[in-house]
Amino acid sequence: MQLLQVELADRSYPICIGDDLISNAGLLKKTIQGRQVCIVTNSVVAPLYLEALKKTLSDYQIDQVILPDGEKYKTLDVWSKIFDTLLSARHNRSTTVIALGGGVVGDMAGFAAASYQRGVDFIQIPTTLLSMVDSSVGGKTGVNHPMGKNMIGAFYQPKLVMADISLLKTLPARELSAGLAEIIKYGLISDSDFFVWLENNIDQLMQGNVEALTYAVKRSCENKAFVVGKDERESGLRAILNLGHTFGHAIETAQGYGNWLHGEAVAAGMVMAADLSWRRGAISETDLQRIIQLLIRAKLPVKSPANMTDEEFLSLMGVDKKVMDGRLRLVLLQAMGKAEVTSDINLEQLRQTFAACRAA
Ligand code: NAD
Ligand code: GLY
Repeated sequence: MQLLQVELADRSYPICIGDDLISNAGLLKKTIQGRQVCIVTNSVVAPLYLEALKKTLSDYQIDQVILPDGEKYKTLDVWSKIFDTLLSARHNRSTTVIALGGGVVGDMAGFAAASYQRGVDFIQIPTTLLSMVDSSVGGKTGVNHPMGKNMIGAFYQPKLVMADISLLKTLPARELSAGLAEIIKYGLISDSDFFVWLENNIDQLMQGNVEALTYAVKRSCENKAFVVGKDERESGLRAILNLGHTFGHAIETAQGYGNWLHGEAVAAGMVMAADLSWRRGAISETDLQRIIQLLIRAKLPVKSPANMTDEEFLSLMGVDKKVMDGRLRLVLLQAMGKAEVTSDINLEQLRQTFAACRAA
């Protein structure tokens, strides 16, 4: 088992990464303080892994909430069902909420833990690659509002993140690729050696090789933990984790949520950010092509939708929450493995990027 630490003073916590951790009772029991647990999961993950987790925790009072599957259910209404269970089963302030699922479940369960009786303990057991390398680490929790994604929520750190690589065996290939987009992101923003490792190991990752996946999750979590440890509430450095996301959010919104997976939109968005970085002279054309080729090998889209005009991009990027004081701010590359947040954007170059990255 690999062990990392997110360093946040009295809110520090471990990330455990390994195979078959879901049956590791000792690991969970060390973290759970009281006698009650509430497992929050969804209708896809429950039939696969809920019983195994309940067996591991058989000494506790266990209650469960099975949410409907999908981003469209990441709403305040559905979220409030978690409290119906917590209250009707009389969970007290020493209960522990356990998220068993992907990012949707993790974000909703974390926000419920942050809110129930003003905050109870929370454990993340991420079951998608994306949630193992991104959403389970760093304490961003919340739900969507009809007027914006992730607009209601809280920073609330878990007590433990337990990434059990064996749970990825059932993950659909498209979801695995979506997780790889965020993994490739770490290589680009802060770890050029890792980017080279990914170029050499992408095929093993695509085949679900446990050793390769364990290494990639560990290295990604190390990179994220470092950034979160320096800037928990995104007052500066943490924004670099959004490489490709401003372009990606525009694609997700224009195409309707659910048609493009988040990781797919981020992949096309990272190509756009890399293309603009190349136009600014920050990376070479060879490096731009390396980025595109790696994403293609991960079976991710590298072009924006043919039907998205410059004006649609600009208008959707203008309402993105990362725009401050009316100025467009983008995460761009300064070099391979180094990102910056800048509002010094040349509109003509940006339009060239839109044109170059649009599907024919
Ligand atoms: P998801 O939670 O919707 O999971 C993707 C699909 O895989 C779902 O259908 C799910 O039921 C299924 N699934 C999950 N685990 C499985 C398994 N082991 N086997 C088979 N199927 C499985 O999507 P996601 O990509 O994990 O997360 C996306 C969400 O995460 C978005 O809501 C996004 O806003 C959020 N997010 C949050 C952060 C953060 O920092 N909090 C960061 C990135 C993304
Ligand atoms: N996924 C971006 C962040 O955690 O800040």
